[in-house]
Amino acid sequence: MKTFYIETFGCQMNAHDSEKVVGTLVTEGYQQVETAEEAELVFYNTCSIRDKAEQKVFNRLQQFKKDSKGKTFAVLGCVAQQEGEKIFEKAPHVSMVCGSASYNKLPQMLVQLEAGNKRVTGLSLDTEDTFETPMTRRDNPHRAYITIIEGCDKSCAYCVVPFTRGPERSRTSASVIAESRQLAEMGYSEIMLLGQNVNSYRDPSPAAWDFATLLDAVGRVEGIRRVRFTTSHPRDFVRPIIEAIATNPSLCNHVHLPVQSGSSRVLEAMRRSYTREEYMQRIAWMKASPRAIAITTDVIVGFPGETEEDFRATLALLDEVEYDSVFSFKYSRRPNTHALALEDQIPEEEKSRRLAVLQEHQRQIQIRRNADYVGRVEECLVEGFNKATVQWIGRTSQHKTLNFVHAGSEDLLGRYVDVRVTRSGPNSLAGEYAH
Ligand code: 5AD
Ligand code: SF4
Repeated sequence: MKTFYIETFGCQMNAHDSEKVVGTLVTEGYQQVETAEEAELVFYNTCSIRDKAEQKVFNRLQQFKKDSKGKTFAVLGCVAQQEGEKIFEKAPHVSMVCGSASYNKLPQMLVQLEAGNKRVTGLSLDTEDTFETPMTRRDNPHRAYITIIEGCDKSCAYCVVPFTRGPERSRTSASVIAESRQLAEMGYSEIMLLGQNVNSYRDPSPAAWDFATLLDAVGRVEGIRRVRFTTSHPRDFVRPIIEAIATNPSLCNHVHLPVQSGSSRVLEAMRRSYTREEYMQRIAWMKASPRAIAITTDVIVGFPGETEEDFRATLALLDEVEYDSVFSFKYSRRPNTHALALEDQIPEEEKSRRLAVLQEHQRQIQIRRNADYVGRVEECLVEGFNKATVQWIGRTSQHKTLNFVHAGSEDLLGRYVDVRVTRSGPNSLAGEYAH
């Protein structure tokens, strides 16, 4: 049993966890292969944020139900933590169920599997541990993820994360800075700081840095040209973060600040611990920044009890903020959560209608916003090349995709270039190489 395959669902935290899991497996002598069919050990790193995401892993497992000979299946991540040993009942060919708070125990668990153990679990949430490993297999050659805080201490009424990722645990600032330096030496120029709520980062060492201090320090590491972070919680989003972005050019001028709803009444039912007005205060700080900051958000439509008036308040908020991009979702009932018991669930068709209305509304805002970029010159990190359109794919500091043409024949991949924006659409910009 020495080859493995891993498939990852869900957020960037999960993507990065998988990179660390791969590093751990390779250190233990396993070899990664490209398909589940050829692997002896099959890992699914799962997401349970919405019901649809959760179903994906069971669909995958179903494919192998009849023909799982010679294979060992492991379910990792949020579905593993949420469903626990019930997964063995639903899918008897699974041998390992392990949540993210137990990844430090993976080497031990692998030994148990190798010894022929058919039911291995790592489900404790009662932990102070963070998952730090010297060997991380990173997928992207330019941008590297660094986890700074794991878990979540909030209790939003709709959200599984506090149940799947456990309580908040921050890494020491020294270890984050050391990893940033190491990444810079390896040639990475962009770092993305990760956490369920990066704003509540609190250095456990005596230095006791807060998030803004850590962010600024990572931006000062030699060789690091761009620092991003996700995700933020409006309640803990304080002014020093905006001041750091305004004064430190290595910090990308983009903030993802999930609002979830534009109605204070719904926000209260969601237990978000801020009002619409408090949220808009944070937006006002950002809009007043001398360095223009792109703002993106997450919205849930159809939370139990959301009226047409509440929904209209969310649309009005989109107009007021003029987000650069919005991730929008239909409310999905999740196990263990407070909202599960709420009455006045919104019918599925009505949720779909609100989602479509909201997305079209936001599309128009993005068309207007992106049109403002035409004529400007933007610095891009070149992330890819599109053979079909013969265009390079660039990414601006504000996290916009900027596709551009370049007459020269040199390889621009991984380089920072200036691009003149000539056209715009709702989801991207297009332009020409400037220099
Ligand atoms: N239903 C729908 N969307 C949800 N999200 C979190 N929980 C749910 C749920 N139960 C959304 C939120 C969050 C994003 C990552 O997923 O908008 O910010
Ligand atoms: Fe999905 Fe949330 Fe878990 Fe990320 S933390 S994998 S979004 S459930």
